[in-house]
Amino acid sequence: MNENVERILFTEEQLKYRVREMAEEINNYYNGEAVTVISVLKGSVVFAVDLIKQLNMPVSLDFICASSYGSGTISSGKLIIKKDVELEIEGQNILLLEDIIDTGETLHEIIKMLKGRGTKSIATAMMFNKPARRKKAVQADFIGFDIPDEFVVGYGLDYDEQYRNLPYLGVLKRSVYEE
Ligand code: XMP
Ligand code: MG
Repeated sequence: MNENVERILFTEEQLKYRVREMAEEINNYYNGEAVTVISVLKGSVVFAVDLIKQLNMPVSLDFICASSYGSGTISSGKLIIKKDVELEIEGQNILLLEDIIDTGETLHEIIKMLKGRGTKSIATAMMFNKPARRKKAVQADFIGFDIPDEFVVGYGLDYDEQYRNLPYLGVLKRSVYEE
């Protein structure tokens, strides 16, 4: 285990097993209809790679890099798009992939923006859900695991761009980010 990880929440095996179950749910949901999978950079890349190998419908893959910001008390509802999707998404079934939903602000804004482009449908799949800090009710169609309100790393999730490569999900030691 990495020296900065306090404890493991889900092992590589548990994550792999759950992704397989989610893929089955998603395959049943789309029933062979073509899907454009949009992976939200960078955190969901590891999840996306594991998931799409198990999908059995025609799949195209694209990426978006965005962050939301609110100014303290006022939720501005602004989205900064650092990298937009490249595929034409009008009339497409969109499956949006996120690593973790925390306050829900980012996903809320991304969904709103994509809907404005005339997509046929939008569904969301998130590997981890942290319901404790939710500010915006967001559409969550497929959820891997609910997790407690702790800072987690691994399986694509970073602290200061590190630890994305850990194959498990772990709680980061407080000493790493405090002081
Ligand atoms: P929202 O808008 O839902 O943003 O608050 C979700 C984004 O916040 C980051 N995040 C985390 N990243 N460990 C991480 O590595 C965590 O425990 C964590 N909680 C939130 C992440 O970038 C996610 O996309
Ligand atoms: Mg991050």
